[in-house]
Amino acid sequence: MPLYKTITVNKDTSIAIWKVEETEGFLAEGIELSDHCQSRYDGMKSELHRRAFLSIRHLMAIYGYVDKDLFYDESGKPHLKDGNLISISHSHNFTGIIISKSDDVGIDIEKQREKILRIAHKFTPFEEYRTLANTMAIVRKLTIVWGAKESLYKIYGQQGISFLHHINVADFSFSENRTTAEIIYEGDISHYKVDFIEFEGFTCVYAIKDKTD
Ligand SMILES: CC(C)(COP(=O)(O)OP(=O)(O)OC[C@H]1O[C@@H](n2cnc3c(N)ncnc32)[C@H](O)[C@@H]1OP(=O)(O)O)[C@@H](O)C(=O)NCCC(=O)NCCS
Repeated sequence: MPLYKTITVNKDTSIAIWKVEETEGFLAEGIELSDHCQSRYDGMKSELHRRAFLSIRHLMAIYGYVDKDLFYDESGKPHLKDGNLISISHSHNFTGIIISKSDDVGIDIEKQREKILRIAHKFTPFEEYRTLANTMAIVRKLTIVWGAKESLYKIYGQQGISFLHHINVADFSFSENRTTAEIIYEGDISHYKVDFIEFEGFTCVYAIKDKTD
């Protein structure tokens, strides 16, 4: 099944998620890449990465975009030439985009893995999560926090910000499916709404920057 899920976030902002199950040849059909993207694509060693990369172009097509409507800045952040905002994520066989006409947006898809327990101290004050019922609940929560921080990082676009020291994610319960977060960096404070969904052992987090900042 190609298109896995779409979410209308608000009147200007939408999300689409692809479950990559097709062959590379099937996904490549009808997709024309810019010189920049073609050379990146040709350099990708992993077939799954190439399929994920192509599937993103199919997701863009849902909103009327082709690869040439996209360009990347020197940090690797994607932009749409028409001024609308886009963020992209891929994790194993799931890929997703968020597109907005008006809001700064970020998206991150992550596979839920116990490995995150080992690196948690690098990106969050881990103690907060000790009260959770079982290891899987802790993994799920940490994956959401990680995804939130990746999403904010993608919006902020400033190398040098530390997940641990500059990005705070407010505590939340799973049933809320949302939280808030802030970046405090060099005297600048910005605020974000964060939503998350979980499916098939994956977590998708997306963030929207508050317009009031
Ligand atoms: C760039 C980064 C955000 C990508 O995230 P990821 O989880 O590795 O990979 P994802 O698949 O979710 O995202 C990749 C997409 O992000 C986008 N991207 C890359 N660099 C970006 C940037 N600087 N800003 C915004 N988006 C960016 C691209 O669209 C890319 O996909 P594409 O090149 O195929 O179009 C990530 O590698 C990174 O640098 N994170 C910050 C590092 C850090 O501080 N870590 C803290 C450790 S405690």
